[in-house]
Amino acid sequence: MRYLVTGGAGFIGSHLADTLLSRNAEVICVDNFNNYYDPARKHSNIAAALQQPGYTLVEGDFRDAAAMEQVFETYRPNRVAHIGGMANPRASLRRPVLYEEVNVRGTMNLLELAGRYNVQGFVYASTSSVYGRAPTPWSEDIKTDQPLSPYAATKKAGELFAYTYHNHYGLPTRVVRFFTVYGPRGRPDMTPTLFVDPMLNQQPITLFNGGEGVYRDWTYVDDIIAGVVAALECDIPFDVFNLGNSHPVQLRDFVTLLEDITGHKAIIDSQPLSEAEPAITFANTEKAERLLGFQPRTELEEGLTHFWSWYKDEVLQTQD
Ligand SMILES: NC(=O)c1ccc[n+]([C@@H]2O[C@H](COP(=O)([O-])OP(=O)(O)OC[C@H]3O[C@@H](n4cnc5c(N)ncnc54)[C@H](O)[C@@H]3O)[C@@H](O)[C@H]2O)c1
Repeated sequence: MRYLVTGGAGFIGSHLADTLLSRNAEVICVDNFNNYYDPARKHSNIAAALQQPGYTLVEGDFRDAAAMEQVFETYRPNRVAHIGGMANPRASLRRPVLYEEVNVRGTMNLLELAGRYNVQGFVYASTSSVYGRAPTPWSEDIKTDQPLSPYAATKKAGELFAYTYHNHYGLPTRVVRFFTVYGPRGRPDMTPTLFVDPMLNQQPITLFNGGEGVYRDWTYVDDIIAGVVAALECDIPFDVFNLGNSHPVQLRDFVTLLEDITGHKAIIDSQPLSEAEPAITFANTEKAERLLGFQPRTELEEGLTHFWSWYKDEVLQTQD
């Protein structure tokens, strides 16, 4: 089985590539190593994969339809995991057009090629951000037409095109909505890295509402990957799935846990909640459990302990 993984050098994409390789699959990784965060992180994410015989790296941009056609023509992937994209609701407020180009046009390029090249399964990485401020818990059938950020709007647009291409080409497509993913290789603009860096340097961390009344459904990356693999391998013609932990944790409690695990105290700078973010994210994962066998297993304390080991070994060591 040959998989194309876009964004394969990023946080989630690189974990997915490693898991597929461990199952003896071939992986074609497409990534443009953009500088949204330090590309050296992305190179280190794929260092082990590059040693594997089944792994091919294509440094390329999926906004470039001709370059992507070359990839499909050369490698003829059986399945595609479109994980690459521009993430982060708040950052998208500053560069909405870039988000539209990457997350909408880039996604259309890949859907078009997957349809034309008879790909047997397409997974599209969407986000809990499509739910905006809808009352929680969020199940897949509630309305998602009030996105709070350009990021959320572009991801919703990608979901809509995923259905359109499924309808047009019969492309078997699964949309997966990720809920606040964390773990080793986590993006530096996300909790917990965003908090740990200043905590180690006795600098303040910005907490929305001082962390009170703000809840996130943190989901460990291994659990997310198990859900993505199930979505890639199932034979459902089209569906949308929440991949979350279903246990929202208050931001203040998250920070307390991080303080306990790292042994470093946080200095808190309380700021109002961004208009691009909801107060609570909370996945109803009943559908993913029923149809994909999805079962998030990792407690926050265990997952954060893995994150902290990685951070000490990989991030702090390379800073010395
Ligand atoms: N991390 C989360 O908590 C989370 C939550 C919801 C949704 N998501 C979605 O999951 C996906 C992966 O997120 P991540 O946290 O791993 O982010 P990431 O930034 O670590 O990974 C994305 C990768 O895509 C690559 N990329 C971006 N634009 C590209 C382009 N035009 N051509 C080729 N490669 C390109 C980047 O270089 C990067 O390596 C994103 O689509 C994101 O929107 C993530």
